[in-house]
Amino acid sequence: MASERQQNFSAAKSSYILSSECLFKAAEQSKGKMKEIRLANAEKILKRVKELETREKIGGAAELSSKEGKWLINKKPDVAFNDVAGLEDVKEEIRIKIIYPFEHPEGAKKYGIGSGGGILLYGPPGTGKTYIAKAIAGEVNAFFFSIKPSDIMSKWVGEAEQNVAELFRMARSHSKSVIFIDEVEALVPKRRNTGSTVMVRLVPQILAEMDGMNSDNSNLLFIGATNEPWSLDAAILRPGRFGEKIYIPPPDLASRKKLFELYLKDKPLSKDIDLDALAQATGGYSGADIKEVCIKASVIPFKESILTGIERDIGMADLMKALESVKPSINEKDLKRFEEYSFNK
Ligand SMILES: Nc1ncnc2c1ncn2[C@@H]1O[C@H](COP(=O)(O)OP(=O)(O)OP(=O)(O)O)[C@@H](O)[C@H]1O
Ligand SMILES: [Mg+2]
Repeated sequence: MASERQQNFSAAKSSYILSSECLFKAAEQSKGKMKEIRLANAEKILKRVKELETREKIGGAAELSSKEGKWLINKKPDVAFNDVAGLEDVKEEIRIKIIYPFEHPEGAKKYGIGSGGGILLYGPPGTGKTYIAKAIAGEVNAFFFSIKPSDIMSKWVGEAEQNVAELFRMARSHSKSVIFIDEVEALVPKRRNTGSTVMVRLVPQILAEMDGMNSDNSNLLFIGATNEPWSLDAAILRPGRFGEKIYIPPPDLASRKKLFELYLKDKPLSKDIDLDALAQATGGYSGADIKEVCIKASVIPFKESILTGIERDIGMADLMKALESVKPSINEKDLKRFEEYSFNK
């Protein structure tokens, strides 16, 4: 399957899950041999989903120790800026503020351009913040480590302090590493009384690690992501921590067209597909929404082909139908709030 070949695990997984659901439904309506075949195929697809989940967790990096595998999303991420549709200005800003100084620290120093520390990516949900963080690691050919406060609270109970220390130690042991902190707002909420007891202990530890109190952090790049930049504590936005803030806006018209191109690439497409019309019809849709529209549209002819045995290309009608079932996740009010914040930051 194309998305699996591109190592796009989550897309492959969603298509597989949808396909196996279709097959189970088709099996229910079949009898005899046909029922058996459909059931067996559905089981096979589900097995593949399980395999993908395992691969996604360890990032396919077989040589990693199991401990490292817990945090390393990918040994070296297999996405780069080329895989990020649109957002050309953002990519350029990231190159100048982060990538070049990280790759050429001597030159950056000479010209007085900041290197070290990190950036905070903020913007509405599904605009590609996590994806861009991985792409930055891909661009600089670095190892990618990830901390998610909700994981710390749910999965790291009892071993959170050791895990944080070990994660930073391992990241420092590579020649270049990106440490990605997702949901930064949960890590350092302005109103600290909302924090859990684990977080009250961990936040100072994470900040001290980021400051490099006892260690050299010059090979580390910190990237944070948040949907709620306004609820962050100023402490986390200090230079050396997340000193640079970069707004990741929802995709504009041209970017939406590119997103459709990207997520329909390598699929059997009918000639009537009008990418401009699709881009026009998707104001308020995030990158993640557009990806979902493309997956849903692909499932329509696929499902038909299983039920009827007749294969056909994905058509404009399939995309329009999928569009109806995926609501835009970005509304005007939220967008205004982000724009005002980015204007006043
Ligand atoms: N500009 C883009 N180019 C390519 N793919 C994109 C883009 N924006 C979003 N996507 C797709 O949408 C998926 C979800 O995006 P991602 O998880 O990075 O969003 P996010 O901004 O981190 O959302 P959240 O705030 O909910 O965490 C990505 O894995 C990617 O496949
Ligand atoms: Mg995210």
